Amino acid sequence: MARILGIDTSCDDTSIAVVADGTTILSNIVASQVDIHHRYGGVVPELACRKHIEAIGPVYQSALDEAGLRLEDLDAIAVTQGPGLIGALLVGLSFAKSLAYATGKPLIPVNHLEGHICSAFLEAPDLACPFVCLVVSGGHTDLYYCEAPGTYRLLGQTRDDAAGEAFDKVSKLLGLGYPGGPVIDRLAREGDARAVRFPRTYLEKDSLDFSFSGIKTAVLHYVRKHGPKQVADLAASFQQAVVDVLVAKTLAAAGQCQASRVVVTGGVAANSQLRREMHAACAEAGLQLVIPHPRLCTDNGAMIAAAAHWRLHQGRSRLEGEALLELDATTDDRFAGL
Ligand code: KG4
Ligand code: ZN
Repeated sequence: MARILGIDTSCDDTSIAVVADGTTILSNIVASQVDIHHRYGGVVPELACRKHIEAIGPVYQSALDEAGLRLEDLDAIAVTQGPGLIGALLVGLSFAKSLAYATGKPLIPVNHLEGHICSAFLEAPDLACPFVCLVVSGGHTDLYYCEAPGTYRLLGQTRDDAAGEAFDKVSKLLGLGYPGGPVIDRLAREGDARAVRFPRTYLEKDSLDFSFSGIKTAVLHYVRKHGPKQVADLAASFQQAVVDVLVAKTLAAAGQCQASRVVVTGGVAANSQLRREMHAACAEAGLQLVIPHPRLCTDNGAMIAAAAHWRLHQGRSRLEGEALLELDATTDDRFAGL
């Protein structure tokens, strides 16, 4: 049984997990920095780095304690190497490299987006490939065709804002604070999603790309004209427009690829309405759908360990001697388009 330590410090969460065999979570500790960044209405990179440095030692210890293991018991150390905030990534990378150097254990660099995709295997260990995967987070809104673990084809991506970024920006302009997704999700339950018809951007026929800057601007114009009144209705109407596009494009991608399985993951996949409507649409279309538990959709170390699992088995790990100089995985040609 391979036990992998997974580390993610790509943005504002310090997370370390231990995962056995790529599917069984033995621990998954997440130290959130929301309280700090909340004051500034968004993530402040310099503060994020400092908080990662403070948190990473205790989070690592908690991850081992909760798993009931010692460092010697681990088979490999996996870490997000990008994409993300450079200073934040460096904290996790340096920590991981130190552990690997001190123990001689394999060090496995993981692309953060591949981590999100592989969270599906934590939720559904029997999930078979191929599948279409929507990764919808604060930094990305991408559709992939996953032929096998490690082999992904980019089908479409946002041309401007990511969906999570739109949630965060709209929340800010409605005076609801950061992070916007969970607040809008909660507030929208009390609102009328038909109150305001915000635009849905589908782009060219058959395009699997996204665009969310128009809806953000539409909310801004609406608020300038009418004031931030009936905020619950605005939140619900905005959320409905985003969910409509995400569901339609994901189903279109499955159709174009003739895929029978769909995965939806990333922070925005924690959204209750998206989950509900994606389930309904996939059921109607006869597609198998996996949306990981909300805790596995937002950033976490377990998904990084899950992604590292197949690499370890294919011998695609690196030892400390080969320094991890590049901070993101764009050099991995199997991750086409990133
Ligand atoms: O995957 P993630 O934790 O970090 C990135 O890789 O970006 O995603 C964070 C994003 C934020 O934009 C946050 O507002 C959004 O996910 N988010 C949500 C919800 N929970 C988190 N968006 C909509 N509804 C939610 N319940
Ligand atoms: Zn993420």
